[in-house]
Amino acid sequence: MAVLRFVVLIFLCTPPVIGHRLLRVCYYSSWSSRRNDGHALLPEDIDANLCTHINYAFITLDSSGTDILSEQPFDLTLMKRLTNLKTKNPALKILVSLGGWEMGSVKFHKTVESHENMKKFAQNAMAFLRTHNFDGLDLDWEYPAARGSPAEDKHAFSELLKALKNAFDAEKQRHNMTRLLLTAAVAPSQWRTEQSYEVNMISRYCDFINLMTYDFHGSWENKTGPHSALYSDDTLCINDTASYWELQGAEKNKLIIGLPFYGNVFKLVNPFDNGVGAASSGGGDMPYYSICQILQDCRAQEIFLNEQRVPYMVFGRKWVAYDNVNSLQEKVDFVKKRGYGGIMVWAIDLDDTHGACGHKFPLMNSIIHRIRQNGAPDSG
Ligand SMILES: *[C@@H]1O[C@H](CO)[C@@H](O)[C@H](O)[C@H]1NC(C)=O
Ligand SMILES: *[C@@H]1O[C@H](CO)[C@@H](O)[C@H](O)[C@H]1NC(C)=O
Ligand SMILES: *[C@@H]1O[C@H](CO)[C@@H](O)[C@H](O)[C@H]1NC(C)=O
Repeated sequence: MAVLRFVVLIFLCTPPVIGHRLLRVCYYSSWSSRRNDGHALLPEDIDANLCTHINYAFITLDSSGTDILSEQPFDLTLMKRLTNLKTKNPALKILVSLGGWEMGSVKFHKTVESHENMKKFAQNAMAFLRTHNFDGLDLDWEYPAARGSPAEDKHAFSELLKALKNAFDAEKQRHNMTRLLLTAAVAPSQWRTEQSYEVNMISRYCDFINLMTYDFHGSWENKTGPHSALYSDDTLCINDTASYWELQGAEKNKLIIGLPFYGNVFKLVNPFDNGVGAASSGGGDMPYYSICQILQDCRAQEIFLNEQRVPYMVFGRKWVAYDNVNSLQEKVDFVKKRGYGGIMVWAIDLDDTHGACGHKFPLMNSIIHRIRQNGAPDSG
């Protein structure tokens, strides 16, 4: 009996192997360092063990589409301060993310116009990455074959990834260096995927794929709705879009599930009509560090959606769909159970980084805790 108890104790104290391998990819937005609302996040203030990968967002292309736009001295210093985190955690990888919503599609179209341009870009990108001590490139083209990019760019995007992968492989062989990582951020809904991505090609050339599994609903629809549901009848949710990417040929362990550290805000037309699907007009977004303070001061009540597994709150005329510790931990369990590669967060600087509501980085720490926890599905 005593022996049995001893054995059980050892088992409970042994961390699960699977969970530990999950990637934790964190975007860091450069503009967060300049925030003047008391929530600026400087690179030095990021614990070097919170994330396995940090993506510096964003750099942009020059007008030729074949080179990185030269950065201002401020940004170069910020990059250096960020990559310095590797001295505190040598296993940490720091990538730079190219693109984003603001940059749009037109410059990327120039990059993929010819194979010569793609090769030129690959050489310039490698030089940039090595000069600034980055470990890889994350392509955030929003989106191929949309927003000013023609239909053939769906395939051209695969060709660009192939050119980059080949260039990174060649560099590794020639100089016996650690190969640069190549990743992509993609909008995973079925209609967007059909328009913009050759899933099996993206999976072949990328080390992993950041699924932007949020913004499924927003104020542009003129009615309220959760933006990061785990499940939903309308298929605009993590479960259905991740399954769809698998079905289209993405390798499971390359799929990284995106988690938002912000809420989507909808301005209610009538504050008394405030359920899901209520009429709204305009809106925006709200960082988690603001959401937690509103809830802590009891200025709004949190309501959990049982089907979608995410909360919302009504704050005066604002209807806010977001994620809390519980919804994020359920999503971590889902990632473990399905055998996906890990989680991605947009963005680490939107967590309660200064501990305005208690401890610092409550969302990221609860994710790490859940990843390591025994007893979660299929982990032990
Ligand atoms: C390549 O680098 C590794 C690690 O730095 C080293 O052990 C190995 O000897 C190198 N190989 C060649 C061919 O230089
Ligand atoms: C939302 O409302 C705006 C302003 O009334 C209108 O221009 C737009 O077309 C509406 N969008 C949808 C999806 O109904
Ligand atoms: C999860 O997604 C799959 C594929 O779209 C679907 O068949 C299944 O019903 C979804 N599960 C839930 C609980 O919605």
